[in-house]
Amino acid sequence: MKPKVFVTRKLPEKALEIIRAECEMEINPYDRKITREELIEGVKNKDGLLCLLTDKIDEKIIESGKNLRIIANYAVGYDNIDVNAANKRKIPVTNTPGVLTDTTADMAWALIFTIVRRVTEADKFTKAGKYKGWGPMMFLGGDVYGKTLGIIGLGRIGKAVAKRAKGFDIKLLYFDAFRADEKVEKEMNVEFTDLETLLKKSDFISIHVPLLPSTHHLIGKKELSMMKKTAYLINNSRGPVIDEKALVKALREKKIAGAALDVFENEPELSPGLADLENVVLTPHISSASIETRTKMAIMAAENLLAGLKGIRPPNIVNPEVLE
Ligand code: DGY
Repeated sequence: MKPKVFVTRKLPEKALEIIRAECEMEINPYDRKITREELIEGVKNKDGLLCLLTDKIDEKIIESGKNLRIIANYAVGYDNIDVNAANKRKIPVTNTPGVLTDTTADMAWALIFTIVRRVTEADKFTKAGKYKGWGPMMFLGGDVYGKTLGIIGLGRIGKAVAKRAKGFDIKLLYFDAFRADEKVEKEMNVEFTDLETLLKKSDFISIHVPLLPSTHHLIGKKELSMMKKTAYLINNSRGPVIDEKALVKALREKKIAGAALDVFENEPELSPGLADLENVVLTPHISSASIETRTKMAIMAAENLLAGLKGIRPPNIVNPEVLE
């Protein structure tokens, strides 16, 4: 008998084919996020679950899936899953690291350029038919080349962001809970600083940390007040890393020059006032959204799912202790 699996949203077809070949697959039929009730119902009698970062997989959901043997997340971040609850049941949890690194780093740079050079404001203006002739003071932004970029979190994505800075003669600072070794710092031309120094010295700050209790509201009122008035904040990691209410206030009061966000504290809701500001660029969590990358992520998640069902070590297990 084929194992039964539940997939919480339609994914690139290549991955669904892989799953279909070996499993009895039930998939959320709607083109929308699954509700909690549907999720509870969906995992009942299933051996495997393939879920999204928007699905909150807490103890109750895991309990509802009495037969669950694998939870494969379609994302590198897995803060949506209660890993401790999975551990209690010895269920492997997997993510999709590596394949989205470059696409996400590209997007961080896209956000930097878009906010600093006021691309979306200028685009709106032009499309509205307001462009009546070249003007010397029209849409003046800042320069990107030659500035200082502060990277918070020098993991895979942070490093890929750093790598891309070379062509723009950018000075790179970084802060991380774990300092990279000297050789890596030299090769990447990055300088380690404490968070305070990074905040004070950077012209752009790009965040690349996972969401953990220690990174929740890592950037709040105090940190924002340390940034230069001319600096920009970029975030395509997880929304709750920034205290969004404090950010709206800082932006409104022009305490910093602007922010470009691909993730939000209470996604998909935006903090009151955020969308009304001119000095922000907001995108709907699309940093890994290239056709190639989303396909690779889906295949990776499918392979993790199948490995878990076969009882072999899933390639991207985040809680290997359950296999001991
Ligand atoms: C992730 O994978 O964690 C991103 O947020 C979406 O691709």
